[in-house]
Amino acid sequence: MSQFFALIPAAGSGSRMGHQLPKQYLPLVEKPMIYHALHTLVNCSKITRVFVILAPDDDVWVRYDWTTFKDKLVVEYCGGDARAESVLNGLNAMYSSGKVDGDDWVLVHDAARPCLSAPQLDQLINELSYDGVGGLLAIPVSDTLKRADSDHRIASTEPRAHLWQAQTPQMFRFNLLKDALSKVDSRQITDDASAIEALGLKPRLVLSDAYNFKVTYPQDLALAELILQKREIK
Ligand code: CTP
Ligand code: MG
Repeated sequence: MSQFFALIPAAGSGSRMGHQLPKQYLPLVEKPMIYHALHTLVNCSKITRVFVILAPDDDVWVRYDWTTFKDKLVVEYCGGDARAESVLNGLNAMYSSGKVDGDDWVLVHDAARPCLSAPQLDQLINELSYDGVGGLLAIPVSDTLKRADSDHRIASTEPRAHLWQAQTPQMFRFNLLKDALSKVDSRQITDDASAIEALGLKPRLVLSDAYNFKVTYPQDLALAELILQKREIK
């Protein structure tokens, strides 16, 4: 039986957030942002272990108490300059741990998506466990899409039919993902599925919702907090 592992790349600096503290540590409902996704992944009974990939010079992680996750949590200080490099370095660290088999599933999830819910995670695992390629959570684009020229004027309106926004987790078999990521230019891609696509494969899109958005800009923090608070009250 294949096992399920989670890998959280958390080695970014959050440049668009514009805060001194990397965004994965910014407070959300009295916890550092990464706590929330970690909580959802660790509490999923199907997931054996959760690897967190930090920047080699990260000195913020140790300021918090993570003992509540200790049974499943593995922390590696091997993040790279681009997200794909952090993920690939993380996969290599998982391999070195000797606990992972090539056919096991890896769910790569951004530290910056704190609002991933348990039902969404279950849905992803249930829909993909027997898939030949793997896939990701995503939502169909709902806004009208404009292509801009260099003056911020509309050059064209792009048809949005069949367009989806990629989210995470992105779930692929360990060997396939490691092979795919080792073949791409890590600065050219912003998600894991792109690397799989470059092999000529077609990852499956699993319907998600807008709650699982990526916290990127300062105004996103308040929205994420509202979503998390609403869930706690229920
Ligand atoms: N990430 C990473 N290593 C990098 C860059 C990003 O592990 N070299 C992680 C981030 O920590 C985040 C996820 O990948 O959890 C998604 O990246 P993004 O939202 O772009 O975060 P940042 O790169 O930190 O933000 P920005 O692009 O605004 O600098
Ligand atoms: Mg980034």
